[in-house]
Amino acid sequence: MTTIPSFTLNDGNQMPAFGFGTFQIPADGSTKAAVATALRLGYRHIDTAAAYFNEREVGQAIAESGIPRDQIWVTSKLWLQDYGFEAARTGIDTSLQKLGLDYIDLYLLHQPYGDVPGAWRALEAGQQAGKIRSIGISNVTPRLWAKFVPDFDVRPAVNQVEFNPYFQQQPLRALMASTQTVLEAWAPLGQGNPELFQEPVIQR
Ligand SMILES: NC(=O)c1ccc[n+]([C@@H]2O[C@H](COP(=O)([O-])OP(=O)(O)OC[C@H]3O[C@@H](n4cnc5c(N)ncnc54)[C@H](OP(=O)(O)O)[C@@H]3O)[C@@H](O)[C@H]2O)c1
Repeated sequence: MTTIPSFTLNDGNQMPAFGFGTFQIPADGSTKAAVATALRLGYRHIDTAAAYFNEREVGQAIAESGIPRDQIWVTSKLWLQDYGFEAARTGIDTSLQKLGLDYIDLYLLHQPYGDVPGAWRALEAGQQAGKIRSIGISNVTPRLWAKFVPDFDVRPAVNQVEFNPYFQQQPLRALMASTQTVLEAWAPLGQGNPELFQEPVIQR
């Protein structure tokens, strides 16, 4: 089996570079089957979110895989209704309970709206308490980065944003370099854009 390269995050944790995303996979047994297949094929990084409503099946597939917990990187994300300090603390515990895990490797604020500072403080507290190993943000543009991130006590380890060869997020990456925040791509294949697959460099 090929060894998957990893990124060292600004908190020292090692995140496998390729992940298996579970957006839009229904929780009717399909998520469990898809994650089980991904793990069997060698993926060691699974991406879910409270808003995908499939954390429970992700957790079941992990539990039944027989793979030691510390060899799988699990990302989940807090949704907007759980922003603010107290609601976010509950949201973290709900994700842990649904996933059936003692800790989550990476927990992200899914969208940068509402009480972002309060929700971020809850992620920092969750990290302190050992419930989350790395904390990060998602869909944070340069404008929203300037609005929120300079006031955070803990630097985000990751910003998960849309990113593909046609959309390389250069101004954002320049900002993120100042905190050594890793850019994690969502829709790295342009959500199956056929034009992208015709590019000689991609075909190669
Ligand atoms: N943070 C956020 O707000 C956010 C937003 C969106 C997504 N995400 C995360 O990012 C993950 C990935 O995003 P995504 O699934 O939307 O986009 P993606 O990975 O860029 O694209 C997936 C699409 O690419 C197609 N595809 C893959 N390999 C192909 C190939 N060799 N030839 C032709 N088509 C191919 C797939 O087709 P098939 O369906 O036929 O396999 C699927 O339709 C999600 O599952 C989720 O975990 C996060």
